[in-house]
Parts: sequence; C-alpha cells; structure tokens
Amino acid sequence: SDRLRVERRTEDSVTLSWSSGRHQVRVWHFPFRLELLCDDEVMVTFNSKSKLWFEKLPKIFSWQRNDYSGLQKYINILYKITFSPSSGPSSIGADLCLHGFNHVYGLPEHADSLQLRDTRDGEPYRLYNLDVFAYGVYSRFGLYGSVPLLLAHKPDRTLGVFWLNASETFVNLRYSPADGQVQFKRCLQPETDVHWLSESGVIDCMVLLGPSPQQLFSQYAQLTGYQAMPPLFALGYHQCRWNYNDEADVKAVDAGFDDHNIPYDVIWLDIEHTHEKRYFTWDPVCFPEPARLQQYLGYKKRKLVVISDPHFKTDPDWSLYREARDGGHFVKNREGDLFKGLCWPGESCYLDFSSPATREWYSRCFGLDKYKGSTPLLFVWNDMNEPSVFHGPEKTMPKDAVHYGGWEHRELHNLYGFYQHMATAEGLIMRSGGKERPFVLARSFFAGSQRFGAVWTGDNVATWEYLKISIPMLLSLNVTGIMFCGADVGGFFWDPDPELLVRWYQAGALQPFFRGHCAKLSKRREPWLFGEEVTAAIRSVIQERYCLLPFWYTLFYQAHTSGVPPLRPLWVEFPREESTFAIDNQYMIGGALLACPVVERSVQEVKVLLPGDDECRCYNKVCVPVFQHTCVFFKSKVQTQSSLFCPQGAADGELYLDDGHSFNYRDKKAFCLRRFSMHSGRLRCRPASEDGTFDCDTVVQSVTILGVKSKASTATVHLSGESLLQRNTEVAEVHKLNTQVKVQVLA
Ligand code: GLC
Repeated sequence: SDRLRVERRTEDSVTLSWSSGRHQVRVWHFPFRLELLCDDEVMVTFNSKSKLWFEKLPKIFSWQRNDYSGLQKYINILYKITFSPSSGPSSIGADLCLHGFNHVYGLPEHADSLQLRDTRDGEPYRLYNLDVFAYGVYSRFGLYGSVPLLLAHKPDRTLGVFWLNASETFVNLRYSPADGQVQFKRCLQPETDVHWLSESGVIDCMVLLGPSPQQLFSQYAQLTGYQAMPPLFALGYHQCRWNYNDEADVKAVDAGFDDHNIPYDVIWLDIEHTHEKRYFTWDPVCFPEPARLQQYLGYKKRKLVVISDPHFKTDPDWSLYREARDGGHFVKNREGDLFKGLCWPGESCYLDFSSPATREWYSRCFGLDKYKGSTPLLFVWNDMNEPSVFHGPEKTMPKDAVHYGGWEHRELHNLYGFYQHMATAEGLIMRSGGKERPFVLARSFFAGSQRFGAVWTGDNVATWEYLKISIPMLLSLNVTGIMFCGADVGGFFWDPDPELLVRWYQAGALQPFFRGHCAKLSKRREPWLFGEEVTAAIRSVIQERYCLLPFWYTLFYQAHTSGVPPLRPLWVEFPREESTFAIDNQYMIGGALLACPVVERSVQEVKVLLPGDDECRCYNKVCVPVFQHTCVFFKSKVQTQSSLFCPQGAADGELYLDDGHSFNYRDKKAFCLRRFSMHSGRLRCRPASEDGTFDCDTVVQSVTILGVKSKASTATVHLSGESLLQRNTEVAEVHKLNTQVKVQVLA
C-alpha cells in the first residue's frame, strides 16, 4: 500500500502519491525540482535554487594540484587546506527550501546556539570531525563528531532533512524574511533555504515528515538506530581526571566519596595507566594488580573505566602491535605502506575500523582472557578517534590515507570514531557471552553512534561561557539522536573557582552523562577539596541525581524503544508555543521536569519561562530551578526545589524497572513498565506494557501530590480494601505505603 502511484501528469511535471494520498511528490522536468506536498500545500522544494551539483570523476586521471574545482576550491579558500584526491574531484551538493519554517536545529557538533543561525554573515556549518582542544564558543567550526540531520519546526509540523554523507560537509542556511525584514513578516510566508555541500560520495538525502516532534524522532531512529539501553550504573556519577596516578590514589579517591557521604559509581583511568601508552596494558609499577583493584571497587558495587585510543604505538616488540600489523589491521598511506602519525605514544599506526575483520579483531582484544588484568567490572573510553593525528592536516588523518577496500580517508572521515565505538561496544558484549550491556564513551561520533553508548563534548575550559554553551550543545545532540551525552563537569582545562564548580555540578546532574573530568595540569578538584560548604552543595546535587535515577532510567528506556530523547528543547513538549522556539538556556527532562541551570557568576535570581504562562516568572533561588510538569519517580524522598506548573490538574508518568545490567529485558522480557496517571483527582497505576514480567522488591513508599488547590483536600489511598488517609494543605503526602509497584493504587 506504500507504493508510489501516479496522481497527475502534465507536460512539465508528474505528481506521485502513496498511502492515503495526503502526501505527494511533484517532479518538475525543467528546471529539475522536487516538491513535497501535504494536503496540496508545498512543504519542501528540492533544488529550488538550482544548486544541485555533482562533479564527474575524470576518465583518465590527469588532475593537477592547483586545479581545484567546485567544492575543493571553496574549502581551500575557507580553510587553506591542500587536497590531492587520487581519482579527481567528486564533490556533490543540493539545496532545499523549507516553506513556512523559520526555526531550524541540529547539525551537531558545534559550540553554538540550539537554533541554527543564518550563515550569510559568516561561515557555513562545517561537519568534519576534528580534535579541537579548548574550542572557541559560538562557532560553526567542525568539532569532534558530526550528525548531518537538520530539524525544522513550526507550530503544526516538525520536519527533518537527513543528508547521509560521511565526507567533509558544509551547510549554508538562509532564513527569509531575514531578521532585518521583521516588519514585513506578516505579509511574507517565512521559509528557510538549506544548501548542503559534501566533498565526496553520493546524494542520499531523506526528508522525515513528522508531523509531531515525537514522530520525527521515531522516524529518525528507524533510519539510524535507537539509543542503546545503558546499564543503570552508567547514569550515576563518574569521577575522572587525567590521571589518577596509581592504585593507592584510586583507593584514596574512592574512600573520599565514602568519607564524605557522596554517592558515585565509576572511577576512570586516563592514558597514564598504561605501560607507555600501549592500550590494553597496565603500568607495571603504578597498577601492578589491576584485577585486584577492580575487585576492591566491585565489593562496593563500583566500576572502573579505562581509556583505549585508536592509535597503536609502533613497537614491533609489542605483541598486539605485531598482531595488528600482520593481520593487515592498520590504515595505509597512498604509497601502500603503513600510515604513521604522531599521537600520545609518539609514532603510531591507526587501526582501520572501517574493515569488518579489523573490528572483529579489535572486539576480541577486550576478551577477558586476552586483555590481561581486565575483569567484567572494567568498561571503556574511546578517545582521540576523529582520529587525532598531532602533525596531520588540521590535526587529523590526511584525506588520501587508504582504508579497507581501497577507500580514501576523505570518503569516510566522519565515520572513523563511529566504527571504533561500534567495535568496542561489540567487544564488551562478546566478552560477556552476549549477556551484559556494554558501557563505552567515545569522543567522536556520527549519525547512529547512539547505538553504541555515550559521547561527551571534549576538551572544554573551566569558564562560565563553556558551562553556558554546554546546554545548547547537549540539546542539539539529543534532538539528533545522540542522547547519552555530557560535558566535562568543572571544565577540562584550567581550574574552576568553587562557585563555578558548584554551578557546573548542578547543571551536570541534570544532564544525561554526568562525569567530573579535568586535564593533567589542572589542580585536584575532588568534591571535598574546597571546604565544607562546597562539599555539602556538591553532595546534595549528586544525591539528588541518585534520587532521580529511576526517572532517568525510564527516560532511557523510552529513548531506547521510541526514539524520544531524554533532554528536550521546550518546543518539543510545547510545539505550538512560539515563545519557546529559540530558548536554549532551559529545557525539559522527559515530559516532566523543566530545568534552568544557573550559568552565570554571582546570580541569585533567574527568569524562567514557564510555557503556558503569559510572562516569564522570576525565581529567587540559590539552587537550580527545576519545575515539575507531570509525574516523576524518585528513589527516595528528595528535596528538590520543584513546584508544579501543570495547569490542568492532571499528571502522567511511567516507571521502568529491570535488573539494570543484562539483556534479559530484551531476550526474556524481564522488565516492568507501569503507567501512573492522575486525572479527576484519581491516581491510577496500570501496566504500560503487557509484555514484561519482572519480579523485584521495589515498592511505592509514598505519593506526593503537589499543587493541591483547596485547603480541605484529602488524599485517600485504596489498597486491597484498606483505606489510608492523609490531609494537608498545598502538598498532599501519603507515606509508608510500602506497596509493590505492581499493586494498583487509587488516590
Ligand atoms: C584528550 C581528551 C581528554 C583526555 C586526554 C588524555 O584531550 O579529550 O579527555 O583526558 O586526551 O587522554
């Protein structure tokens, strides 16, 4: 039924439709154009400005170095790079007009606002994975990862344009009317022109029709994959620095968390833990008994993450290097020799993760028998995988390096980190015999990396502007599928003052991946080093994060099954409220919480837009304002500053539970998904999925109803015949329920 059929044919065009016929595609012969219609209204025109472009590969290669054509000339002017493609120029490009839209988002990774800007005044958005330490903020320069997905939103429709191309790509945007023409806005239908240019490859452009944001997320997930379901511990707090020096240091930091009553789940080891930067090895003096260290952490239910980068020290005396070399697992240069570049170990070779055999070999390196000193409590961090080559052009691999199948690096540059992430996650799954969920953090990514784990925003700086930009950066990642993401809490380079550090913890606790990390030269900054007041402030935000873990975990289950991101720009939840469309200092966590982290120095009061209100409200609070819109599940009682902003007196929410680490939720349907809904004064709890069966000892301990209007309100809980009663004024609380999550609760 979804097959295309011809609706109309004229001399100049042919109109095709499918399914109900509501949507149509009209193809114009000359000049060539494609129009996408809904109810006879044109939504998108492909090639509206006639910028469709592709360079033909010359039959006989006779290309001169300075004979730049098309895109290469353009890139060269912008970034002063020299190119030498072995088979001649092969750029492609196309433009689309998005009718009726003047808000577009996506195209990470850039340290810039959530809403994409008109590029007429400067450079295009660049998608080219690069290691840019201390990157500039408010810039469209390429960073560590790329997702060529653009989203467009207006009150009645969200659209997506996915340009599937992993070579260097530029995107130009033009809004009409432009800002200067606002006075004409009423008479002009707004539109956005998008112009894509890629260095190589084919034009493979998909338009996702929505129409709701949720439908669009689901369509995109069907194309590129759903967010991996993380093990529960990975949503807790992670403690990292470059470096924790030795076993004693790790144990002292671990004990510090206990001594100060601060929860945490994972401690991390950076490159110095290895034997002279050979990954999969341990420094024999500093970490003589790594398995014992993991067991030690394991007694406290904690984990260890170690770094594993894609470059291998060129050391013929190292057996893993020899295996990789002899197995043909390294990238070659154009002369056919091993490509050698500089990275942490000095001269290095780079694994060719684009080759399935190399990925399989690499995955096996994580086997418990092969990776000496590793245990099932060890998880992995892939860094420098843009890839970073210290003396390479723009600090990366030359475009003419040669991969598996003879492909030049230029063709798949933006996929390099994606494939390492894939092979690492696969390796951790394999080592458990397919039973356990992996946790892998990667710095570089591409569309679809969400299937393999988490990413972070790389080497930021301990200043307020980097704290501020982290919010739009993480929102852009979430709307383009990369949902398990975070920024180094505290800032990677330099040293935050205590105020900035506390604010960063407050913001980080409300973001998906929550890790404190800093550079080698930064001072120690474990949470208890700045006096009791700072320790107490950090303790309370980390504890609140732990109280909210069931809520985060449920959000990840929803992301995993429906593609909807945990972090949502306001417009995703309030798609008709135009006042929300450009907001990127506040956001929703799921549908339930609205967060507005404080990102400026000495601020005691913030203005918050509560959608549905006519005006912004002022909140004078030292803590980060978090507002509750609907049901949220806390692990135990939590003292948030939450107040309800749901005017309808109704609330809904889901709670997901499983064993927290295995694939049994998937393979044996061992999970529990309950829906709680409050309507007309009754709170009901029902199964949200008939599928799952999971025996757990989790109980509902108490129910808190915020925003009760009348002072005479009562809340009654009916439990198998018994009635418990509680009376209160603005907040109704019913304690000591201790009823199984599965038992129906009516209040
Ligand atoms: C890179 C990473 C950083 C890490 C360092 C040493 O700069 O982005 O997180 O600590 O390398 O491995």
